[in-house]
Amino acid sequence: MNRSEFLKSCAYACVSGVAVLSILQSCKTTKILNSPISGAEILLDTKEFEIRKKDKLSYRKFIVVQNEQLNFPICIYRLSEQEYTAINLQCSHQGAELQVFGDKLVCPAHGSEFDSKGSVENGPATQNLRTFPVQLSQNQLKISLV
Ligand code: FES
Repeated sequence: MNRSEFLKSCAYACVSGVAVLSILQSCKTTKILNSPISGAEILLDTKEFEIRKKDKLSYRKFIVVQNEQLNFPICIYRLSEQEYTAINLQCSHQGAELQVFGDKLVCPAHGSEFDSKGSVENGPATQNLRTFPVQLSQNQLKISLV
């Protein structure tokens, strides 16, 4: 193995390690709910974001909601106590299903990246993702699918 091949294999090992770490971290924190759809709305209790460990309360950054009536899952981000976003996990480039990695949504097809508000951060996608209106009332999120 010459120097160039050695450096290439080291680079591949580093990239693979980072990718595996990201996937493992994503799996560890991802909560997936099968939420019913009532009319054209999904109702979700904000307590679903809570993580209780002993006396400590923390919050998940996001929850993924699935339903057989949905073509793609929806990722709901908790941006703050009062602000949530609901994002359709369909890539705006060619329609592949996105993967959630913390604050980023990544397309496995061609590598587009989006932020937690659905805005394009890296192409080839040029359009932001579809989002759904979210209303918060008495610890209940109402996600409108129209
Ligand atoms: S389908 Fe997502 S980047 Fe092409």
